[in-house]
Amino acid sequence: MQIIDGKKISQEIKDELKAKVEMMKANGDKIPCLAVIQVGNDPASSVYVGNKKKACEYIGIGSKSYELPEETSQDELLSLIDALNNDDEITGILVQLPVPKHIDEDTIIRRISPNKDVDGFHPMSVGALLIGEDGFLSCTPAGVIQLLKRSGVEIAGKECVVIGRSNIVGKPMSVLLLRENGTVTICHSRTKNLKEVCKRADILVVAIGKPKMITSEYVKEGACVIDVGIHRMENGKLCGDVDFEDVAEHCSFITPVPGGVGPMTIAMLMNNCLKNI
Ligand code: GUN
Repeated sequence: MQIIDGKKISQEIKDELKAKVEMMKANGDKIPCLAVIQVGNDPASSVYVGNKKKACEYIGIGSKSYELPEETSQDELLSLIDALNNDDEITGILVQLPVPKHIDEDTIIRRISPNKDVDGFHPMSVGALLIGEDGFLSCTPAGVIQLLKRSGVEIAGKECVVIGRSNIVGKPMSVLLLRENGTVTICHSRTKNLKEVCKRADILVVAIGKPKMITSEYVKEGACVIDVGIHRMENGKLCGDVDFEDVAEHCSFITPVPGGVGPMTIAMLMNNCLKNI
């Protein structure tokens, strides 16, 4: 059994990107600049936003931060996005989700110019992914593919089961696995015989949002298990959607929480920031 070290792999990717930015600077190329918008001060969002800004600094690209109060109106947020869409210095725009309830997430996502959609959430980006065109890939699923490839896990021809069908993880994840020639099944809350379906998987990607739900009863001997979930337990420690202690010994590969998929999201965001520059 091999534990996939997402921290190490994300560091490798960030170092590759840092070297790329150094080359761009030496050539006198335009250097990307990411605009990061946070509305309100949800503590988890503040941590993510802080890490995204740190990653920009690490690889050597610009970042601009917009911390707006909770009561910011939707129109005010849309005006800021319009201004950033029209600002040539800004090459990527990210609105940290979730936004406050009085703001419609879809309206915000659609307003970001598809050329600057480094989160890969715009319907144009999602459509490009679906038909196999080049575009910004949703960061977490793209990070999972990198974890698999860089750990030597073959995807082509494998039974891949994705649990979860969100627009941010489950759906793009299944399309990316399909693009890598996996045989893909998507499971969700209405799936019958979930255990039996999961037990078919050579590669099981779990993004359900329920702490430690996936036990060894769901996992085939020798499977590769990727855990996208993250939860804080009562004892203050973090855990995933997979019961790691119970499942690990049955796997060929498994990602831990923390230190598995999480760090990859930011590495892939940085990768998107260097795209099309
Ligand atoms: N909230 C949780 N994950 C993400 C993400 O990948 N991007 C943004 N913008 N917000 C998020």
